[in-house]
Amino acid sequence: MRKKITVVGAGNVGATVAQRLFERGYADVVLVDIVEGLPQGKALDMLESGPILGTDAQITGTNSYEDTVGSDVVIITAGIARKPGMSRDDLLFTNMDIVGGVAEQVAKYSPQCVLIVVSNPLDAMAQQALNVTKFPRERLIGMAGILDTARFRTFLAQEVGASVEDVQAYVLGGHGDTMVPLVESTNVGGTPITKLLKKEVSDRIVQRARDGGAEIVGLLKTGSAFYAPSAAVAQMVDSIVLDKKRILPCAAYLKGEYGIDGLFIGVPVKLGAAGIEEIIQVQLSPEEKTALDKSAAAVKELVEAMANRSAGS
Ligand code: NAI
Ligand code: 2OP
Repeated sequence: MRKKITVVGAGNVGATVAQRLFERGYADVVLVDIVEGLPQGKALDMLESGPILGTDAQITGTNSYEDTVGSDVVIITAGIARKPGMSRDDLLFTNMDIVGGVAEQVAKYSPQCVLIVVSNPLDAMAQQALNVTKFPRERLIGMAGILDTARFRTFLAQEVGASVEDVQAYVLGGHGDTMVPLVESTNVGGTPITKLLKKEVSDRIVQRARDGGAEIVGLLKTGSAFYAPSAAVAQMVDSIVLDKKRILPCAAYLKGEYGIDGLFIGVPVKLGAAGIEEIIQVQLSPEEKTALDKSAAAVKELVEAMANRSAGS
């Protein structure tokens, strides 16, 4: 029997995630949205691509969580996206309510699923989903680090004239302006990037990766990125559904790892059938550790703002 995957939010990210997963053929996909007709129309259109693509998987669109019952993996992309001039943090309270409501339904209908959160501000929304579902941390993961790292790798590959596949890098930390590209351990086919590029060039690339989301928002004007984000989600789902045990940078709830306690933050994790099977602790330089702490402090501010709002203060 095929696995069952639910994608909540049939907008740019959600629909593209659904399409990528449907085309893989290893799972049936349920696409959920509050807008009547939107998930149904998009899902039917994708289903009708099956004979051309050669996939027998099923995909259905719905406005009801009853259709999502027993999902193995659920992906939350519901919420508002940035417009030009907005930061991810400007989405906090609106998306907190949306993600909270969705997470409640996920816990009710798919209590054993691995839950992937995509809605922004990412690390705070993962926290909100954890607060509501009370899932073990192994089964609740945020998507951001793969995307931030992919942007960094893209720009580095362009600069050095190498294949993107040969650029090894990690971007850790929160999914925001304080994200932490690990420059010292970044290498191209084993040669450290610090030997290949002048510091001012790698600094410029680090900044472009940090601003990667805003660069796309500035170009699109009506929304934010979705092709690379959906590819990142699909890579996480591949590792879970196929039990590949890939080590990928994802937002995980830390309990003392990296000296951070009680917060979601982007770190390398091993993803398999059980969700997060291990949190990998890579060696950080003192500067990188300081930058990670600063990033954690920025996430903590958002989490505290959510807690204050919930407490009505
Ligand atoms: P979008 O506006 O295209 O789609 C959002 C969808 O959510 C809409 O179809 C809307 O009807 C739906 N929705 C709203 N409330 C809902 C509810 N209560 N239940 C079900 N569906 C609901 O936005 P897009 O571009 O798909 O982005 C979605 C979210 O993902 C945004 O918060 C965005 O900032 C975030 N994002 C995060 C990334 C990351 O790296 N973590 C990357 C890209 C986007
Ligand atoms: C991005 O980085 C919107 O967070 C999203 O593109």
